[in-house]
Amino acid sequence: MVDHLLGIEGLSKSEIYRYLDTAQSFVEVSERDIKKVPTLRGKTVIHVFFEPSTRTLSSFDIAGKRLSADTINISSSSSSVKKGETLLDTVRTLESMNPDVLVMRHSESGSPHFAARHLSRASVVNAGDGAHEHPTQALLDLLTLRQHFEPKGLGLEGLKVGFIGDVRHSRVARSNIWAHLALGNDVRVVGPSTLVPHEFADSFGSGRVKVIHDLEQGLEGLDVVVCLRMQLERQDEHFIPNLDEYSKEYCVSERVLAKCCPQSVVLHPGPMNRGTEISGDVADGPRSLIRQQVNNGVAVRMAVLYLLARTAEPHEEYER
Ligand code: NCD
Repeated sequence: MVDHLLGIEGLSKSEIYRYLDTAQSFVEVSERDIKKVPTLRGKTVIHVFFEPSTRTLSSFDIAGKRLSADTINISSSSSSVKKGETLLDTVRTLESMNPDVLVMRHSESGSPHFAARHLSRASVVNAGDGAHEHPTQALLDLLTLRQHFEPKGLGLEGLKVGFIGDVRHSRVARSNIWAHLALGNDVRVVGPSTLVPHEFADSFGSGRVKVIHDLEQGLEGLDVVVCLRMQLERQDEHFIPNLDEYSKEYCVSERVLAKCCPQSVVLHPGPMNRGTEISGDVADGPRSLIRQQVNNGVAVRMAVLYLLARTAEPHEEYER
């Protein structure tokens, strides 16, 4: 059976730790002088991105290359989708070339799931589908938190985690929330009621996610603050009066963090809008783990490619 990574929803705690343990073992490869292992030699990974991306695409590509896989990148502007080809035809055409893994980003929720249902040989990885899920981002966020908390004798469990800002449109928040709920963490979503609707929280099961509309109240006592980008490109109507008004009330600044959760660390999946959802002093300050997130993106994607492509051919041994 071909394995896929389509979302965090439904993964068990031990499956999450399996990805994180494997990713941690790959961190060291990127610190070597020669950053390459032969693990996926002879495997082919196709990245098909129907939406723009900087860090996700480049880190998947680097991850595949560091594992010695052959990688190719297809973007919507250079694919036959522009000529009217359906998603199904595109995906079937790509599968005819026998890739081992298809990494897909698409603006429509469920597209990678659709591809996975119609492919018989290639593993599919969801690199972000609409506002639905972005599983590798959640895994790299967890790896970053684990590296921060473990040396302090703490772990990934028992944390108070808050997602601040445009939660409604955020696939990063959804994947992270599923992960933190699987780990048994206390999860809050914070922002104006238009961007943080009560129905949003209900989709995770009644009472499991707290909704708070006041920033200071929402930040109170958090261990982890995840700032989310204001995703104007996904908003087909107006959800806030204007960006200035929004940032006056919801921009996460050092002043408000020092007051409400002085011990907290801050994550942001990027790209950041400085001054809108996060202030420069937080983004560049000592509690920011944003650069480590980007750094861990490569190790996490190496782990995902390795675990999926290796499953396809179990006799292939991990050589280092
Ligand atoms: C996120 C995405 O594309 O969902 N970015 C990313 O993958 N690093 C978040 C965002 O676009 O705001």
